[in-house]
Amino acid sequence: MNRIFTILCAALLLSACGSYESFQNEATKEYSSEQMKKFAKYMIQGKTLYTSYCSNCHQADGAGLGKVYPPLAKADYMLTDMSRSLCIIKNGMQGEIKVNGVLYSQKMPDNNSLTDLEVAEIATYINNSWGNAKGLVSVKTVQKSLANCKD
Ligand code: HEC
Repeated sequence: MNRIFTILCAALLLSACGSYESFQNEATKEYSSEQMKKFAKYMIQGKTLYTSYCSNCHQADGAGLGKVYPPLAKADYMLTDMSRSLCIIKNGMQGEIKVNGVLYSQKMPDNNSLTDLEVAEIATYINNSWGNAKGLVSVKTVQKSLANCKD
């Protein structure tokens, strides 16, 4: 009996890992296993990059910090305009903005050393964590957006 359970559990675990179920959300429901594999890779890399470059200010849970650093979790400002957000990640920003009804006006430093792939990985991570569900942000999308940033 015990052995059957062990085998059953191992099989379940394997299938869960194989289909990257832990990364699934509303936006990735229709992804093929190939797409899911790429998505999972971006999520894992993106989290590492987020931890080094962003979480100091926006916090590990994406909640931001009081009236100083805006949230990324369920952030209307970020989620309504992907291109604008990609420009902010790369170039930083300054000036007054309203995020979920709260006014912020601190400076965010640029991240000019990040490659397009790294920006895509970070963007994928923050757009698919803490309840956000936008799906994979491709390198192509990053390149198109960064070519059209307003300053
Ligand atoms: C030194 C603190 C700091 C760091 C580090 C930082 N940010 Fe920001 N970020 C800010 C501030 C402050 C604003 C708001 C700027 C303003 O008020 O004009 C902001 C705004 C944003 C916005 C748009 C507003 C929103 O909440 O939707 C996004 C998206 C964003 N940051 C993502 C990132 C990402 C991704 C990283 C890491 C690559 C990062 N930030 C690193 C401080 C920081």
